Amino acid sequence: MKVSVIGAGNVGATVADVLAQGDFLKEVILLDIKENFAEGKALDMWQTAPVRMSDTILKGVTNDYSATADSDIVVITSGLPRKPGMSRDDLIGTNAKIVKSVTENVVKYSPNAIIIVVSNPLDVMSYTAYLTAKIDKSKVFGMAGILDTARYRAFIATELNVSPKDIQALLMGGHGDTMVPLPRYTTVAGIPLTQLMSKEKIDAIVTRTKNGGGEIVKLLGTSAWYAPGAAAAQMVEAIAKNQNRIFPVCAYLDGEYGLNNVFLGVPVVLGKNGIERIIEIELNEVERADLDASNKAVKEVMSVLDNMNLF
Ligand code: NAI
Ligand code: 2OP
Repeated sequence: MKVSVIGAGNVGATVADVLAQGDFLKEVILLDIKENFAEGKALDMWQTAPVRMSDTILKGVTNDYSATADSDIVVITSGLPRKPGMSRDDLIGTNAKIVKSVTENVVKYSPNAIIIVVSNPLDVMSYTAYLTAKIDKSKVFGMAGILDTARYRAFIATELNVSPKDIQALLMGGHGDTMVPLPRYTTVAGIPLTQLMSKEKIDAIVTRTKNGGGEIVKLLGTSAWYAPGAAAAQMVEAIAKNQNRIFPVCAYLDGEYGLNNVFLGVPVVLGKNGIERIIEIELNEVERADLDASNKAVKEVMSVLDNMNLF
């Protein structure tokens, strides 16, 4: 199987590195607009192959989409990252144009590829790729929920001093401050989180999760890449291995949860066809109101895209 990663920056390079280390793909192509950048990163990664015992071939190219031809999966990470003081939504002006032109090239050379969007603002960039690619909604979607849930699970593991492997959780909504972590759907080795932690502690973790991206931006001066890269690679693996894993994924909603014409994080089954199906869970009044607020926030950013008249 062939996977292309567009953007060889912090996130893109990490996706390629995690995929190569996983050793389940035939080939990974890394593409960047910056001269020789992807070539250098891919060469360095390829030279880890004899050490890590992987035979996934890595190749870097400068803006040469012919090298990505017939990719099965394409991960789009090209675009500006957040800097201190910026929200994810501030990135829209620049990143929408980048994601549109990248997607045009992707579908030109790989019309059957499944597209995973990572660039921010995630929900609206997924929508941008969908409008550009004009492919089925099951084949274009965004990565955010696995990352946001991973942060939430990691915080819970630290607080309870247990293995993060045992934390199962669900989170919905947009990739922003209005995301909706769901403590009612969070268990620790099957034990409801609500039996193990006080409401105050859970609330604090939910708040920290919502600000999880900003916490890293404050520390590093740019946004995260290890966890985002690993999360996007996990989506690739689920598709490539037809695992039918259940993940929160930024998916196009066409009536699910009573919402329409919006990309929002929802639980999906991810397999060889991309989104095999969206799972509709029961939400209580508060969770429902939080999801509606998140939908409203994403729609406001979508209106910024509409005003750019790109489509
Ligand atoms: P970065 O600046 O390290 O890398 C971005 C790369 O994109 C650069 O190497 C740049 O040369 C390249 N690029 C720009 N325009 C391009 C074009 N037209 N064609 C090909 N390549 C192009 O940024 P980083 O940290 O890798 O972040 C990438 C994006 O991912 C940002 O928009 C960031 O906000 C987003 N992100 C999203 C997350 C999520 O959960 N969805 C998590 C972390 C980052
Ligand atoms: C993150 O959540 C900024 O979206 C990026 O780390």
